[in-house]
Parts: sequence; structure tokens; C-alpha cells
Amino acid sequence: MNRLKVLSTLPLCALALASCQQAEEAPAAPAEASLAQVTLPVSINAAMVGIIDQSADFIWAVGNGDMPRNDHDWDQVRGAVYDMILGGQVIQMEGTGEFDAQWVANTDWQTHSEDLTRIGQDALPLVEAKSEDVEAWRAIGDRLVQNCLACHELFKPEVPSQGILHESTERESRGISIFD
Ligand code: HEC
Repeated sequence: MNRLKVLSTLPLCALALASCQQAEEAPAAPAEASLAQVTLPVSINAAMVGIIDQSADFIWAVGNGDMPRNDHDWDQVRGAVYDMILGGQVIQMEGTGEFDAQWVANTDWQTHSEDLTRIGQDALPLVEAKSEDVEAWRAIGDRLVQNCLACHELFKPEVPSQGILHESTERESRGISIFD
């Protein structure tokens, strides 16, 4: 056995042993209970700006025909697709925002969040195939914009502004590629 193998098997054995002992001491809590206790260290608003809004721009760019030119560009689009998949789940967890608890408890909120995840999942085969089918990307982008608007209409009636304009959004509005 070479050294690398020894190193990588050791912690596994230790882990297996630890979980065995734990199982004897106390029965594991039901999975549901521990998931419900997960909270975000930031507000849902921050997650919205930092993950969802930031990344949605890349998906809309491709739908507008601003095609990735190399693997680095495709990496960015793939990251954006995963951000939609994961973002839809993240915003179902309560964070530090004032209204977060009431939002996550609302069934309409949960539906729109799940839709966001589903849109991302539907875009995954496209990005994995590095598809240049602009129409297919535009269809994803259209569903995405409907999703943002539908949820904002219910939960955030006023136009979200705060004067924040992501650099990528500004580039698109000036007809400059989102990709560097
Ligand atoms: C499940 C509901 C929901 C979905 C889906 C959703 N949002 Fe939001 N979004 C909100 C709410 C509620 C707020 C307001 C948060 C606050 O003010 O604390 C918000 C805030 C924002 C903000 C910050 C606004 C501000 O005033 O600073 C941006 C930007 C944003 N959303 C973009 C998007 C984009 C882009 C999408 C779609 C890709 C999207 N959101 C999808 C509910 C949603």
C-alpha cells in the first residue's frame, strides 16, 4: 500500500468508528427536524442580491445571444445555473431579514422558490452541452424573468432599486458582452 492510500483510508476508519460509537450512545435525531433548524447567516434579501440577481444576468445574456466564447465563459454560465438551482432552496431558509420567517412559511413563496430551482435544473442539460441554441436559452430566460416578477409582485410590490446596478447588468444595457 502506498503512502497516499494509507493517508486517505485512515480518517475514514476513524470516522466510521466515531459514528458507530455515537449510534450506541444516542439515537440519531430525525432528518426533518435538523433541516428545519437550518438558518442563513445573512438576510434573504442579501442572498437574493448576492446569488440570484448576480447570476441571473448570465442566463439572460445567453438568451439575448451574448454567447460564451470559451470554457471560462461557459464555467460562468454553469455557475449561474447552479446558483438558480441552489438559490431556490437557500431562500426557503429563514435568514436575518425582518420578514424572512413569514416569507419562508408562505406556500406561494415556497412554490416560486421551487420554480426557480426547477428552471435552473431545466437549464443544466443546455449548459452541460454548451448549447448555442439561443431560442432554448431565451425560453429559459423568459421563464426566469416571469418567476422573479411573479414573486416580487406578491412579496415585494415596489420596484426594487436601492440604486444598485451590477456591473454586468450595466454592460449588457450598453451592448457590451457580459463575458470579459
Ligand atoms: C420566492 C420569491 C422571490 C423570487 C423567486 C425572487 N425574488 Fe427577488 N426578492 C424577493 C423579495 C421578497 C425581495 C425583498 C427582500 C427585502 O427587501 O428584504 C427581493 C429582493 C430582490 C432584490 C433586491 C432589491 C432591493 O431593493 O435591493 C433583487 C435585486 C432581486 N430580488 C432580484 C431577483 C431576481 C433577478 C430574481 C429572479 C431570477 C428574483 N429576485 C426572484 C422575492 C423573490
